[in-house]
Amino acid sequence: MQGKRELQGEVAVQGSKNAALPIMAAALLHKGSTVLHNCPKISDVFVMEQILRQLGVVTHWEGHSLLLDCRQVCGYSIPASETEKMRASVLLAGSLLGRKKCVCMGYPGGCVIGHRPIDLHLEVFTRMGAYKDEDGKQLKITADSLQGIRYRFPKVSVGATENAVLAAVAGEGWTILENAAREPEVTALCSFLKKMGVRIENDGRGTLCILGGCLLSDVEFAIPPDRIVAGTFLLAGAAMRSRITLLQAPSRQLNSLLTLYKKMGGQYLVSGGTLETDSRGVRCALPLTETGVYPGFPTDLQPLLMAVCCTLQGESRIRENVFDNRFRVAEPLKKMGAKIKIRDTYAEIQGPAVLKGCRVKAMDLRAGAALVIAALYAEGETIIDSCEYIERGYETLYQDINLLGGRIRKENDSIDETETTGIFEKNQTETTGWSAKE
Ligand code: EPZ
Repeated sequence: MQGKRELQGEVAVQGSKNAALPIMAAALLHKGSTVLHNCPKISDVFVMEQILRQLGVVTHWEGHSLLLDCRQVCGYSIPASETEKMRASVLLAGSLLGRKKCVCMGYPGGCVIGHRPIDLHLEVFTRMGAYKDEDGKQLKITADSLQGIRYRFPKVSVGATENAVLAAVAGEGWTILENAAREPEVTALCSFLKKMGVRIENDGRGTLCILGGCLLSDVEFAIPPDRIVAGTFLLAGAAMRSRITLLQAPSRQLNSLLTLYKKMGGQYLVSGGTLETDSRGVRCALPLTETGVYPGFPTDLQPLLMAVCCTLQGESRIRENVFDNRFRVAEPLKKMGAKIKIRDTYAEIQGPAVLKGCRVKAMDLRAGAALVIAALYAEGETIIDSCEYIERGYETLYQDINLLGGRIRKENDSIDETETTGIFEKNQTETTGWSAKE
């Protein structure tokens, strides 16, 4: 792979998007103040902040610390124009039900990665005594009171688990949730609520017990690092056969990825919050990777792994078991020269492929990140349209990649040769530009 720019150096992992969003919603449960440290400055967080402000919450940033003053929450309605911007808006149902016993909102949006119903969320609310009224556009849920219940999820759902926990905080008595999601972001939400004063027991095997009606207090909480962002940088280093050190990396939450990383030939060293990776030996294809609920391999890293598999020697196969339409990144990767076949829930990737830079379009957040990895590896210029998807979840992805030795530029960025930001340069003659398009 002539002309590859090695990445080299250290990168600090941002706070977790998928922990920050439910925790921001949870702040509504307490008529007081919440301060969240290490809060990622990404567009999904700003959307959630805007919705909270429209409900009467006073917000204030100091660096990466976000103050949420929820003493005055006057509203319980959220327009579809806001809820359709992201999936996590649905979590305001649980917290508004808990705070106001009423919520009127549009349906959630979010990445188009398959059918994303909210039937489990609604099932829990009605089991707790709420009434729902849907007209296909708006969702209205009211409750005279919320009863603690014992409920076993028919399938694991991160969001439905989080919504159930949020509603249970205001329930009467104990709520016992079985077959609940065990993702670290759910654990972070429970840690936050415990710090706020909620009694929660977590057996670590998918059963959560929440005691409703606890006295809540003001709370300060540090958002944990984002395991998917950490995985993104590890996989970018793998594609580029580079040595990258991740600071504030949640290594214990990345066991499934680190196992695969070793299989492909990577080496790593964990010391405290630092994860040193050495990808110089990466070359072996992965016979079969299956995505699954935590602690399985995360579906959110599946598109990025697909991009790395294009660089490996041999046939790799990936099975997507969580979402029913999450192979969309295969199309732009094939446009760049990747050899990928999709058969039902399997993707078969032949490598190593010679990827040529061209104009491609990010279809969703993680597909966009996968295209950044492919663009790093490709020869020639790659332009990634719709990069606003990427900015929903990554605070400083292209600055970080530039600091590691890559070259990335958003089209509306000024080009200053003295600065590290610039266009992707494979070498002096070829470039890969990353253009943001409206
Ligand atoms: C969360 O989405 C994450 N988003 C997703 O990350 C992540 O991919 C997903 O969990 C799985 O880990 C946030 O936390 C904001 P689910 P969520 O409910 O809660 C089905 C990213 O890139 N289901 O666990 O929507 C559903 O269709 C995003 O950061 C129902 O059938 O995921 C899916 O097949 C993408 N009925 C499966 O469960 C329901 O009521 C898992 O979905 C709810 C879900």
